[in-house]
Amino acid sequence: MLTLAFRSILYYFVSCLFNCVVTQDDSSIPMIGKYFSTKGRYEEVNPYLRDDILAVNRSILQPPSPQCRPIHLTAIIRHGTRYPTAKNIKKMQQLYNLVLHNATGKQSWLREIQTEWKMWYTEDMDGRLVQKGVKDHKHLAVRLSKLFPSLISEEKLRGGLIKFITSSKHRCVNSTLSFKAGLTELWDITDREFEHAVNDTLMRFFERCTRFLQEVGNNSSAVHEVDKFKQRPEMRRVQQKIADRLGVPYSLITHDEAEVALYLCAYEFAIKAVNSPWCQLFDEADAQVMEYASDLREFWKRGYGHDINSKSSCILFHDVFSRLDRAARENKSDQQITEAVTVQIGHADTILPLLTLLGFFSDSDTLTSTNYLTQAQHSFRTSLMMPYAANLLLVLYDCGGDDLRLQPLLNEKPVTFPGLTDQQGSMPLYRDVREHYKDLLNGCDFEAECHLSKKSAKI
Ligand SMILES: *[C@@H]1O[C@H](CO)[C@@H](O)[C@H](O)[C@H]1NC(C)=O
Ligand SMILES: *[C@@H]1O[C@H](CO)[C@@H](O)[C@H](O)[C@H]1NC(C)=O
Ligand SMILES: *[C@@H]1O[C@H](CO)[C@@H](O)[C@H](O)[C@H]1NC(C)=O
Ligand SMILES: *[C@@H]1O[C@H](CO)[C@@H](O)[C@H](O)[C@H]1NC(C)=O
Ligand SMILES: *[C@@H]1O[C@H](CO)[C@@H](O)[C@H](O)[C@H]1NC(C)=O
Ligand SMILES: *[C@@H]1O[C@H](CO)[C@@H](O)[C@H](O)[C@H]1NC(C)=O
Ligand SMILES: *[C@@H]1O[C@H](CO)[C@@H](O)[C@H](O)[C@H]1NC(C)=O
Repeated sequence: MLTLAFRSILYYFVSCLFNCVVTQDDSSIPMIGKYFSTKGRYEEVNPYLRDDILAVNRSILQPPSPQCRPIHLTAIIRHGTRYPTAKNIKKMQQLYNLVLHNATGKQSWLREIQTEWKMWYTEDMDGRLVQKGVKDHKHLAVRLSKLFPSLISEEKLRGGLIKFITSSKHRCVNSTLSFKAGLTELWDITDREFEHAVNDTLMRFFERCTRFLQEVGNNSSAVHEVDKFKQRPEMRRVQQKIADRLGVPYSLITHDEAEVALYLCAYEFAIKAVNSPWCQLFDEADAQVMEYASDLREFWKRGYGHDINSKSSCILFHDVFSRLDRAARENKSDQQITEAVTVQIGHADTILPLLTLLGFFSDSDTLTSTNYLTQAQHSFRTSLMMPYAANLLLVLYDCGGDDLRLQPLLNEKPVTFPGLTDQQGSMPLYRDVREHYKDLLNGCDFEAECHLSKKSAKI
């Protein structure tokens, strides 16, 4: 008996040696961590990075022949992890007060929020880049230099062949500084600094596109489906479950409170890497409903919901192709390529319209308030597309002769241009890509799309 008891105690300690560490690791990641939409952590999209944040897998790049060499890379990158906006911090404070004063539940996690958790967000943090966001970009810079060593090299950086363009928002400028610091620290460059250009015409086109602002950005009817979804049984059920878990009347938890509760879980995780007690307000099914509400909003505000959403990115579309064209031209005429790498740093609102214009993540059915269940497999999933530091990479390869190819990658994973899937793998001929997008290349004029005609302006 004694030996048995002793053995089981011993077993407990030994197994704990192996398992407790692992268990603790896992439990620091919220079970709902992959449903945070545009507030998600990059590591949840590429889980191998949890073990080694500098890991790259070069075998994912599979050019059709060994003589293929990358000659140009355009990287369009979202800023890194940031603080909530002042508006959301105010709402977080209100929800915290509600939980503090009105919640009657007895669960230990609820007591933890009430007695131990501190409301440490202050309004002056307003959307600024956090330290984790600095690291997001430093680490991404190092990984990209490992993935494309001939392009992102010290020689090319010093030679002025790597160009940086950013949105003027401080979180983007700081992300740009962080990306550059990732490279200069990697190569131990201390004797000089590298410039970047601020260009909101390019990186914040959405606030200069009058038609977009009038029809969508400033028009609450444009996201009517989101408002309708908030009234649907799926969403009401989530609100009721949160109210039940807190022990407050149902009327106190609207979609707004549910959303802010999810933000609290998401921000504590993204910024501090903790699985906070706020996450206990949701089970996985609840988080999926919340994610759908976010996907719906992005779909109607930045995605396929309205044609002008993607058309507002025409200026960025042409900018990208003019860089690719120039690199192709220079290579053909045996000149040195003047811009080997372009790093452009902006917002989810910058990249989503461009992905939409290019036709990525298009579902056969429109996302609406009533098709939550039938759209369970929808491909327009912002959690997978747009975590912090999300990035669209376009890599131009020279494979000898006239054989130029273009490889798109999203978040460091190869993707295929929709409609070009019958080409070799994910690396179609550049001329086929241009042919595929010829209508956009010959049109998609920002001025024409975005400016209201005289006739409609009068109305
Ligand atoms: C790298 O990618 C290849 C191709 O996708 C895959 O087969 C392989 O398992 C990956 N290796 C690692 C270490 O992740
Ligand atoms: C919440 O609690 C506060 C403080 O006890 C009280 O003044 C307030 O009326 C309560 N609110 C609701 C909606 O019950
Ligand atoms: C971002 O930049 C501003 C201004 O240059 C600076 O004050 C701030 O500390 C920076 N934040 C981070 C996280 O680097
Ligand atoms: C910003 O980019 C656009 C598009 O490439 C270009 O026409 C414009 O000159 C740039 N503006 C500045 C200030 O560099
Ligand atoms: C606002 O959006 C609705 C729905 O898309 C549309 O019918 C209406 O014309 C828009 N209003 C303006 C001013 O564009
Ligand atoms: C959008 O609305 C804001 C205030 O709601 C207003 O200041 C701004 O001028 C509007 N912009 C356009 C382009 O309609
Ligand atoms: C252009 O392509 C050729 C192969 O056709 C390659 O050898 C050369 O290095 C490229 N030129 C430049 C400037 O990168």
